[in-house]
Amino acid sequence: GRPLVVAIDGPSGSGKSSVSKEVARQLRLAYLDTGAMYRAVAWDCLDRDVDLDDGELVEAAARTLDLELSTSPDAERVVVRGADVTDAIREPRISASVSAVATNLGVRDELIRRQRAIIAAHGRRMVVEGRDITTVVARDAEVRLLLTASEEARLRRRGAQLGGTQSVEDLLEQVVARDAKDSAVASFTQAADGVYTVDSSDLDFDQTVDAVLGVVHAAL
Ligand code: C5P
Repeated sequence: GRPLVVAIDGPSGSGKSSVSKEVARQLRLAYLDTGAMYRAVAWDCLDRDVDLDDGELVEAAARTLDLELSTSPDAERVVVRGADVTDAIREPRISASVSAVATNLGVRDELIRRQRAIIAAHGRRMVVEGRDITTVVARDAEVRLLLTASEEARLRRRGAQLGGTQSVEDLLEQVVARDAKDSAVASFTQAADGVYTVDSSDLDFDQTVDAVLGVVHAAL
């Protein structure tokens, strides 16, 4: 088919990943979770005791990372040096250290290069989600979209996702504090020129998917 890159940016807790996967399924496109790549670098650094304050070592970790990623929306799988880290990269210790990795410009340069290569290898038919996809990685995407949600809605969803086991303070740390750190790497709270915004605060999952599909169809 002809190229169709759907670029989706947004903060954590916006429902970005589950919505992006479902959109990929319905449009029969491949799916790339770029956040998983930053998490994989963080996992590798922690696993090898690389000092996260040593920028050169962290950059080298990204440049040499042996990483395999599933690009099917139905089979999430992240493998680093042969180890399946699909679940491990979601642990709070990774969420807490990933911003240190993501603010490293050498790391970003390397991961952006890899992301563009993956998009090309899929014939440019892919849903790609992250923080800098609409503005940097795939500025030339056929459809560019920012998925937002109020802080309240995002805290509620993240809390439900984690089964109500976390305190409000922990959730604030995971959602709000990470935003503050991430705002240093890319501006994803306001849509860039030519980028559509879907605000999911008052939408359920199916309504959000439909809103995104509506934007895709309107853009084509
Ligand atoms: O999307 P997720 O929350 O899994 O992303 C993890 C982290 O990776 C983010 O908090 C951010 O620091 C970083 N990231 C990034 N650029 C992207 C995707 C993720 O800097 N395109």
